[in-house]
Amino acid sequence: MKIAMGVTGGVAAYKAAELVRRLQDKKFSVQVVMTRAAREFVTPLTFAALTGNKVITEMFGGENGAPANLESAIEHIAVAQRIDLLLVAPATADILASFAHGEAGDFLTTLYLASTAPVIVAPAMNVNMWEHPATRANLETLRTRGVHVVDPEEGYLACGMTGAGRLASTEAIVEKVCHVLGVRDDFSGQTVLVTAGPTREDIDPVRFLTNRSSGKMGYALAEAAARRGAHVVLVSGPVHLPAPEGADWIPVRTTEEMRQAVRDRAPGADVVIMAAAVSDYRPTEARPQKLKRQGERLVLELEPTPDILAELGRDKGRRVLVGFAAETEHLAENSRSKMARKGADMIVANDVTQQGAGFDADTNIVTLFLRDGREIPLPKLSKLEVANRVLDQVLQLRKISG
Ligand code: PMT
Repeated sequence: MKIAMGVTGGVAAYKAAELVRRLQDKKFSVQVVMTRAAREFVTPLTFAALTGNKVITEMFGGENGAPANLESAIEHIAVAQRIDLLLVAPATADILASFAHGEAGDFLTTLYLASTAPVIVAPAMNVNMWEHPATRANLETLRTRGVHVVDPEEGYLACGMTGAGRLASTEAIVEKVCHVLGVRDDFSGQTVLVTAGPTREDIDPVRFLTNRSSGKMGYALAEAAARRGAHVVLVSGPVHLPAPEGADWIPVRTTEEMRQAVRDRAPGADVVIMAAAVSDYRPTEARPQKLKRQGERLVLELEPTPDILAELGRDKGRRVLVGFAAETEHLAENSRSKMARKGADMIVANDVTQQGAGFDADTNIVTLFLRDGREIPLPKLSKLEVANRVLDQVLQLRKISG
């Protein structure tokens, strides 16, 4: 997995070199991005030697009008698209303020805006700067946007004062990175069955009913569960995504095919997550020949498809059963009633009319509804991160269900 590591201008910048090494020990590939101030403390050469990658230091041209050290002027977009995580360590009060206010004055701030990958900041600064209401407010803003913060430690600071502000330990930062990227073993020994994508219901040999699901949400769940050590079975409607490495991938087309695949594999699963956008209706009969255009109106008769989630809910055993709800109104009310009607332990609800949520987006904005009445709203996150938050909750439900 690829990490962009922002290094900003503080004394703790020298510790970033050790951090790069420890991340590499965990097999992460690291691309370092340094701010101008960071280069007052450490040279880019240190990081270039450690990573084998050129260090990104400038948005456009290099020093004295020399050629840019970037492939192109839109390198920030290319980096934003290829990274799995943006980590900033050490993060100064200045970069926190820039992120919080959406400034885009240099490569790092622009990368932050352009990327949908999860973000971790590890602040380090003078104790008074750390405790200043402005810094607190900026951090609060970032936290509500889903940015992860590795709080600094207390101790003797480079400025001669004692208090909170010292960069968190390398171990704590690496642990946070692993946690956010879902690199852990907490699903080992468990089988997770995920459904993804749309279904297609034939009208005739050339036409069908379907929906806008891209499969991204379901595939993110499959990938996250596999990274966390699960044996993953992915039952997928027709999508344009590569099958995740290591998963049992079962392609299906219709609701009936998805139902059969789920029925076959659910008995061996500890967790079933239905992220697929399954057709609720299908034509009463698929015409054997292509429908001809006629002068009059054409009325298609539809019948309800079997409700796969509800069928599983009736024979749940000790499995944890998670459904999704794609809503355009009354999110809480509809999700709670779906949870009861379908016998799910949790419903992951997305208001698909929101920008950055639902169908085909790389991000999602969901609320988790649980049987015990809890309601957990999440900010806009990448689908991989939503998947990890869902899995965190599933793990708790697994403990309860024994
Ligand atoms: O695939 P993406 O482009 O990434 O988009 C993600 C998503 C919007 C598809 C996903 O986040 C989502 O909301 N999936 C569920 C969509 C849906 O069908 O919602 P629903 O409210 O109609 O169904 C509720 C639940 O019942 C779902 O878990 C669904 O899988 C299940 N269901 C529905 C109908 C049916 N016949 N059988 C079912 O099992």
